[in-house]
Amino acid sequence: MAHVRKAVIPAAGLGTRFLPATKVVPKEMLPIVDRPAIQYVIEEAVAAGIEDFLIITAPSKKALEDHFDRSFELEALLESRSKDAALDEVRRISELAKFHFTRQGAPLGLGHAIGMARNYVGDESFAVLLPDDILVDQGALLSQMISQHAETGSVIVAAGHYPLEEVVSYGVIDPGEIKGDVINVNSIVEKPPIAEAASNYGLAPGRYVFPSSIFDAIDATKPGVGGEIQITDAIASMISGVGVQATLNRNDRYDAGQKLDWLRATVEIALDHDELGPGFRDVLAQIIAKHDVTPAQSTP
Ligand code: UTP
Repeated sequence: MAHVRKAVIPAAGLGTRFLPATKVVPKEMLPIVDRPAIQYVIEEAVAAGIEDFLIITAPSKKALEDHFDRSFELEALLESRSKDAALDEVRRISELAKFHFTRQGAPLGLGHAIGMARNYVGDESFAVLLPDDILVDQGALLSQMISQHAETGSVIVAAGHYPLEEVVSYGVIDPGEIKGDVINVNSIVEKPPIAEAASNYGLAPGRYVFPSSIFDAIDATKPGVGGEIQITDAIASMISGVGVQATLNRNDRYDAGQKLDWLRATVEIALDHDELGPGFRDVLAQIIAKHDVTPAQSTP
């Protein structure tokens, strides 16, 4: 089976959970320490062997295109001031992979956004990564999913084990046989009522490996939860065909489209940062001492 070299990044959503920061700035461009959130996701995919990206954007998100393009003016300025490290970093971004962009037009759902990639993908298998889901695993999960797809030809989704109150905000899996990190999927339901959740396994982080037949499934999918074309419904329709398997993610993940989790990502990634980590550790210790930090539920 062919090697997966293309990825689609749906980034046309409105980012309403992060307003007002996202009124003008796309949520994918909010920085986590020193890089915009989407750059972590691109670097993760590159580490898993992806060479070519289609980013699905919206009219207000031109910053995404500019970020992954060359910036001759900035590069010339950095060169003239001998800022070599900054120059290397800026050049490296546009050299990470090949980037293509298309606009979704209207935010009609994740399934609709992925459907925009049909011509770009052709008849290859491809990956989809949601740019607000941050993993710091150097591409380990996506590599595992790509290998699983190469072995089986099935749709491969990433899954995690979540508390019941949380799992119902994702697609919820009814699992069949579970072998190590591989879960056979019997059915999936998008955002079910809590009483109807089949398990604690949910479709997050947002990582998928699809055969190109997903596009026919998307075309046949009617609007679902929230009146949107849900990718979960298209995936569910493929269970009886090529089959669907989930790879269990055992690493930490951050939902950078959500304020509290963005803060957690910022603090943890800063602590692990080669250059900033040691200094930030001291700053954090001082903040904790100053604010007498104890969990909110323990205060009377
Ligand atoms: P989310 O629902 O998490 O993103 O969609 P959102 O709509 O931007 O954010 P909120 O809920 O209003 O805060 C998951 C991913 O799917 C993309 C989003 O950009 C995000 O990366 N998406 C969603 C699209 O590209 N198009 C859509 O029509 C819907």
